[in-house]
Amino acid sequence: MKGQEIKQPSHIAIIMDGNGRWAKARGLPRTEGHRVGAERVRDIVYACLEMGVKNLTIYAFSKENWKRPRREVSGIMGLARFFFKRFFDELKKEGVFFVHLGDTEGLSPGILKIIRNMEENNAAERKLYLSIAFNYSGRSEITQAVREIASLVERGDIEVGDITQELVSEHLYSADLPDPDLLIRTGGEHRVSNFLLWQIAYSELWVTDTLWPDFSKQTLLEAIDEYHRRERRFGGL
Ligand code: FPP
Repeated sequence: MKGQEIKQPSHIAIIMDGNGRWAKARGLPRTEGHRVGAERVRDIVYACLEMGVKNLTIYAFSKENWKRPRREVSGIMGLARFFFKRFFDELKKEGVFFVHLGDTEGLSPGILKIIRNMEENNAAERKLYLSIAFNYSGRSEITQAVREIASLVERGDIEVGDITQELVSEHLYSADLPDPDLLIRTGGEHRVSNFLLWQIAYSELWVTDTLWPDFSKQTLLEAIDEYHRRERRFGGL
């Protein structure tokens, strides 16, 4: 409505599924679906900047994805290197602040170096936090938080009674981020696939049959429209 500010969700998280099916339907290799998928990430970052969404978190590579054929894994790793290098400088100029969510263990020294470089040379102006879940697993994230907190207790720095939900949140990779308001999954499957398990406790879920390479600003607007129609009660009445 003109003259009336619409409050956007402050944090949108996306499970970008369907790249493989998109490619298969066109007789293309699966990596081609991922390549077009990476282009969509860039488009959606711009759409979020335009709409004033403050946080966007995308699921780019799970720890379970290592089980895929070697060729597909190295295709995604190559794309990630390309995306991180090519789009980082461009998006940084637009005020996109990059956050890596996930384990560093298991990633190649080359990718780790690129991720460190992005973290050290991040945008000064933080219009949008772009968090990329890469080598990520929700259960591993919670497990490492439990380990960190257990060692604080072991060292005598805190007592068991000091363990609160806030403390657990502070030990997750997403420590500085608000919980997602809206979780979008493309590709039609109704599951969360080990993504942000702790953080999505009260997120609104929106699933679309649209495959990720076909996702557009229009699809994002549909998701946000539906989000605005929902009544969030956070367990209350
Ligand atoms: C799921 O589709 C998608 C992935 C496992 C990879 C997502 C990666 C990208 C979008 C490109 C990399 C982007 C960055 C920013 C590094 P799927 O392969 O499971 O599709 P399917 O269900 O149709 O097989």
